[in-house]
Amino acid sequence: MKIIESVKELRKTRKEITGKAGFVPTMGALHRGHLELIKKSTEICDTTIASIFVNPTQFGKDEDYDKYPRTLDNDLQICEENGVDIVFKPKKEDIYPLSNPKVGFRISEELGNILCGKSRPGHFEGVAQVVSILFNIVDPDIAVFGEKDYQQLAIIKEMTSSLRYDTEIVAVPIIREPGGLAMSSRNRYLTPKEKELAGNILKVMEGVKVKAEEARFDRRALPVEFIESEAASRLTELIPDCKVDYVEIRNTNDLTKGRFLARDSRIFAAIFIGKTRLIDNLYIGV
Ligand code: PAJ
Repeated sequence: MKIIESVKELRKTRKEITGKAGFVPTMGALHRGHLELIKKSTEICDTTIASIFVNPTQFGKDEDYDKYPRTLDNDLQICEENGVDIVFKPKKEDIYPLSNPKVGFRISEELGNILCGKSRPGHFEGVAQVVSILFNIVDPDIAVFGEKDYQQLAIIKEMTSSLRYDTEIVAVPIIREPGGLAMSSRNRYLTPKEKELAGNILKVMEGVKVKAEEARFDRRALPVEFIESEAASRLTELIPDCKVDYVEIRNTNDLTKGRFLARDSRIFAAIFIGKTRLIDNLYIGV
């Protein structure tokens, strides 16, 4: 496995790759979720490049950039053991040669100003910025992203298509802890008790799915707002002291919202447990 820091060397190595180049962008602190992305890339590509870069521009000023877990030795071992061919771990200056980088994809309001985009202003602009720079450097044939960050995935697809990147975006379903909590680098901020309680996020979303299926069977129209607020109350009941940021049901393809539960719905949730923000989503069909 090659470990590359410089942009110049990465570009040179990239040019020597024959066959399909797969890319898995990460911020490190790798867990089984990341591993699944790596596996996918190694399955469908000839060469897999993973990047490890904690991107400052996607963190709000009161967020955890300084505290974000950095576990490089462990990350490199995971990459090595799981078939990554090249790890790209640039420094801040390699990605942002100018101190105040202004480049960035203009995300559509429909995708950018909802859900996490509303709660974390500037976050997705930072994500799109770094991913477009990484794509320019790595020039991947395929890039793999997780459905855990579903809105991020939708925005990356929009960007890739709008900017005509010659890269196919491949999605991987959410990988969960045994108790149901979606794996995340931030889960390590939680106590074992909090982790156990956080398993209720999936339970509540599954409850909504069952309700949606029943209503479909009975041909009853379910008002979206009512189900959302019911789910939010259920979350605060089951996870004492959590703060619900949002629970929303939207179309799984374009993230638009209807008044009544419709076909191809997906439920999205974001909650705080203490200072830790957790997000999750589930396809509820109907
Ligand atoms: P990071 O949080 O490290 O996640 C890297 C990739 O792993 C993302 O595509 C994310 O969706 C996926 N992932 C994380 N947890 C997952 C899980 N439980 N199941 C499936 N996939 C999971 O997302 C980022 O980094 C950054 O925003 C990045 C795209 C690297 C840009 O900085």
